[in-house]
Amino acid sequence: MPVTVTVALGDRSYPVVLDTSGLTGLAAALSAATPRRRVVLVTEDVVGPLWADAVVAALSGFVVDRVVLPSGEANKGVETWYRCVDAILRLGVDRKTPILALGGGVLGDLVGFAAATVLRGVPFVQLPTTLLAMVDSSVGGKTGMNHDVGKNLIGAFYQPVLVYAALPTLDTLPVAERRAGLGEVVKTALLDPTPGADLLGDVERSADALREGDPNATARIVGACVAIKAAIVAADEREAGQRAWLNAGHTVGHGLETAAGYGVLRHGDAVGLGLVLETEWAVRAGLCADAALPERLRGLLLRLGLPSEVPSLDRRVVVDAMRADKKTDGASIKIPVPARVGQMTLVDVPVAHLDALLGASLGSG
Ligand code: NAD
Ligand code: GLY
Repeated sequence: MPVTVTVALGDRSYPVVLDTSGLTGLAAALSAATPRRRVVLVTEDVVGPLWADAVVAALSGFVVDRVVLPSGEANKGVETWYRCVDAILRLGVDRKTPILALGGGVLGDLVGFAAATVLRGVPFVQLPTTLLAMVDSSVGGKTGMNHDVGKNLIGAFYQPVLVYAALPTLDTLPVAERRAGLGEVVKTALLDPTPGADLLGDVERSADALREGDPNATARIVGACVAIKAAIVAADEREAGQRAWLNAGHTVGHGLETAAGYGVLRHGDAVGLGLVLETEWAVRAGLCADAALPERLRGLLLRLGLPSEVPSLDRRVVVDAMRADKKTDGASIKIPVPARVGQMTLVDVPVAHLDALLGASLGSG
């Protein structure tokens, strides 16, 4: 039986369906989300050949137009967004035609932004096919794309009407991509504010099973992460407060990702490294009382099969990329760091002091 988590946003509330058996419930879930029987399925050139036919077959009773975009972080930019909206407009859609995004976080973010901008907004459905997209990016309505200056600098908050995660789509995901998704799992487990919960301990106890892609452990952790994200988004949709916790690891992570060149360092891998470096800094700065936490996180990344050492990059290029973070007010950046597991502190770090977050990695500052 599929599990459904609701993102409670009043009349914009929507279900996140986690289906361990596949796509059998998709047509019913889509019918409940929209009265329309004609939809546009947008996917990318890796996921499309693997899963688009299965999605179309599951959507019996629907007329499905298809659009295929180039895959990969390096294609999460304005050219691909233009290709997407151009193709959608040429299909002759109207303001009620649902756009379905079948793919990982790159495709979902980009198509979400296309759905937000075509005709000033058409209904949007996320069909996430990576672990990262299931646990994080498909939920919460952050859409957008990269610019040379920095990650995700162009975008909009635009909530989907439905998220349908068919867990068996993970069967074709390359191992390194699946493991990269565990970077966002560790982030969510670190910040989980649920009283009495111990998701970080659970991830540690399940680390071997998660690294090897055990379906039961994976489904359980996806459910836990989605529930946490749904609650945070429902309480703070526009990131006025607690939603900023979800940016843990991302200031350093985005800096590393941008400096390496989009598509070189996986987003989830970069977030994992960012969590370790930002937590080390928090301990040095006296903001985190748990001095053992950085090593605990590093050890967990290692067990999960993620990189735990920072790749060799030009420190100045990384710091410049960190400065371009969209959470800056020009003088400082609000960075969430753990005071302890389950409790983040938002710290205003002056842009002139960002270098300190990299610590002794990447040579001296
Ligand atoms: P991705 O979408 O690039 O997917 C990773 C790779 O796996 C790609 O090569 C893709 O073609 C392939 N792939 C996807 N699904 C597959 C499947 N089922 N079988 C085989 N191959 C498959 O990367 P990602 O890690 O899913 O997403 C990273 C992106 O997510 C980043 O751009 C990041 O900024 C964004 N993100 C957004 C949010 C948000 O809240 N909107 C949150 C976290 C991350
Ligand atoms: N991934 C961060 C957020 O959705 O707010």
